[in-house]
Amino acid sequence: MPSVEKCMGCHKTIATGSPAIQQLAGYWERQEPIPWVRVNRLPRFVYFSHQVHVTVANLDCERCHGDVGHMAEAYPVVTMNMGWCLNCHEKQPNAAQLKDCVICHQ
Ligand code: HEC
Ligand code: HEC
Ligand code: HEC
Ligand code: HEC
Repeated sequence: MPSVEKCMGCHKTIATGSPAIQQLAGYWERQEPIPWVRVNRLPRFVYFSHQVHVTVANLDCERCHGDVGHMAEAYPVVTMNMGWCLNCHEKQPNAAQLKDCVICHQ
């Protein structure tokens, strides 16, 4: 997740009147990390890598996370259970063979 410092690179000057940006600036002044709330978290016994899905399979973020850019607050658009993973793999030419339990459970 991006650091507060990265956000403040722009928000020292952009939208400084906004309550949300003032909240952000508060974290910066107190030198605190942003307490991000996770929306999606797989159980620890599941292996998932963004890199292969985003760069190799070329899937858009929206495909799994919905239209986050237009959400006032991020919320899950799918239930990220095992059936969801397997369903997509089955339909993809490069992933149809990825059914072995040990691919996702190591
Ligand atoms: C490259 C510059 C840039 C960076 C980096 C950046 N932002 Fe922004 N942000 C913008 C711009 C431009 C807007 C739109 C401002 C507007 O509509 O007036 C915006 C808008 C916002 C808004 C909506 C403000 C409002 O009330 O309308 C929030 C909240 C926000 N940013 C949070 C963040 C956070 C958190 C980070 C770091 C994770 C971040 N931004 C990083 C440029 C940036
Ligand atoms: C193939 C589906 C898929 C795609 C495509 C995808 N993600 Fe994810 N994303 C996931 C899953 C699954 C998790 C939960 C991972 C975990 O808990 O280990 C996740 C978690 C995250 C999280 C952690 C925070 C949270 O609450 O969800 C962020 C941030 C995130 N993804 C951003 C992105 C971005 C940005 C892109 C595009 C560059 C992207 N993702 C593309 C499936 C996907
Ligand atoms: C929207 C489609 C889609 C969804 C949803 C999806 N995957 Fe995939 N996944 C792919 C594709 C396509 C590949 C093959 C990429 C390649 O190698 O060309 C892949 C490859 C993989 C691989 C093998 C590559 C590696 O990282 O080692 C694993 C493991 C994997 N996915 C796990 C998961 C898990 C776990 C989930 C659910 C939480 C999931 N995937 C959901 C499309 C998807
Ligand atoms: C493409 C990835 C993938 C493959 C392949 C896969 N799983 Fe899973 N599995 C998952 C995910 C993701 C979860 C977590 C689901 C959730 O949190 O609802 C899960 C959860 C589970 C659970 C726990 C269920 C529960 O109720 O807590 C078991 C047991 C399981 N898998 C067994 C298997 C077996 C056996 C195989 C092989 C036949 C397999 N899995 C293949 C992704 C996969």
